[in-house]
Amino acid sequence: MTQAASQATSPCCAQRTSTSSTRPLTAAVHAGEARYTAFHSLTVPIVQTATYTFQDTAALVDFLEARMFWDVPEREEYGRYGNPTVRAVEAKLAALDRGEDALLMGSGMAAITGTLLVLLSQGDHFIITEDCYRRTRGFCQSFLARYGIQCTVVPPGDYRAMEAAIRPHTRLLFSESPTNPFLRCLDYPRLVEMAQAHGLRTVVDATFATPINCRPLEFGVDLVIHSVSKYLAGHNDVLAGCVVGRYELTTALRQAQGILGMVADPHAAYLVLRGLKTLGLRVAQHNRNGLAVARFLEAHPKVRRVWYPGLESHPDHPVATRTMSGFGGVVSFEVAGDGEAARRFVDACRIPVLAPSLGGVESLIEQPALISYYDVDPEERLRLGIRDELVRLSLGVEDTEDLLADLDQALAAV
Ligand SMILES: Cc1ncc(COP(=O)(O)O)c(C=O)c1O
Repeated sequence: MTQAASQATSPCCAQRTSTSSTRPLTAAVHAGEARYTAFHSLTVPIVQTATYTFQDTAALVDFLEARMFWDVPEREEYGRYGNPTVRAVEAKLAALDRGEDALLMGSGMAAITGTLLVLLSQGDHFIITEDCYRRTRGFCQSFLARYGIQCTVVPPGDYRAMEAAIRPHTRLLFSESPTNPFLRCLDYPRLVEMAQAHGLRTVVDATFATPINCRPLEFGVDLVIHSVSKYLAGHNDVLAGCVVGRYELTTALRQAQGILGMVADPHAAYLVLRGLKTLGLRVAQHNRNGLAVARFLEAHPKVRRVWYPGLESHPDHPVATRTMSGFGGVVSFEVAGDGEAARRFVDACRIPVLAPSLGGVESLIEQPALISYYDVDPEERLRLGIRDELVRLSLGVEDTEDLLADLDQALAAV
């Protein structure tokens, strides 16, 4: 293959940057992208195809022979096994999280379910922390049980309970960090030490952290997952997920992805690539807004309690300051009143929009009791700490002063 043709089909060669040493802002802009690409386009082209052609049967056989020896083929064969636009995103994600390899998937849930399906087998047991995205907990507790995979749920931050839950056939520890919605943060050195002592794998959903604020692989975690739909893509306009880690683990995942079909579409991949370029800039403003709003709410008489790892009152503040360089844009809090008071507050907001999700440029607001737990038994909801007056606010990148003024006027409705 000529150099030009090779570069046109494989954005992973002739990289603009050497990925392992690049700092985050530079990696976000350049990592994973070829210096020269098809048609002299500065941006990575959207290779919108389901399949790839071979000049003749000899070329096909050459490809099939070579594939027997290569982990990453030099060209593509079929869309479910790879796409150049997707590969550029994967290389950028790997550079940002300082992993050997990354896989882009169709959604965050595809990344979570695919990873657990590949790492666990019938008869295995694993441990998760309680405060987490409801669909993740549902998959772990109900769905996997149908395949004979058992899961124990332990309270976040309770490492004694976690260790006590380990059985002879326990295979892995899974947690979000920070968690959804109470922003509990993992003590990574402690988690990894425990996992290594018992020969367990560690998998962390670090969606709320982003690789700008925390890179769990650097603490020795085995695999990191993100719902790319949130901060990484950043514009509330695309669904995607990713898994980052060592080749030893990602290779098995990639094979499973080709069978299970949980791939990202090339156009979605392009939106992710474009969003990632400003990740560092956006996260800096999310961090500023998160901290300013958390401090403002904590001091406000119409607010009962605030959860934000950057506040000294948060149970994981010491751990978060040791392991993270910023605390993100999500703030959870209870208004001083009942669910109706929270509803009046949410409806009075003029900047944050009432919607599920988080991590995009627009501030979004919701009552978890309604958006995520409406169909859950109120007793179970309360057991999980999801009270009607709980509000989850995902700060976007708007001006801090405008957000504070808006929240102040909306709190008058409580
Ligand atoms: C922490 C976390 N992980 C995973 C997901 C699922 O991601 P997706 O919506 O991209 O499937 C979510 C969704 O809200 C989430 O909050």
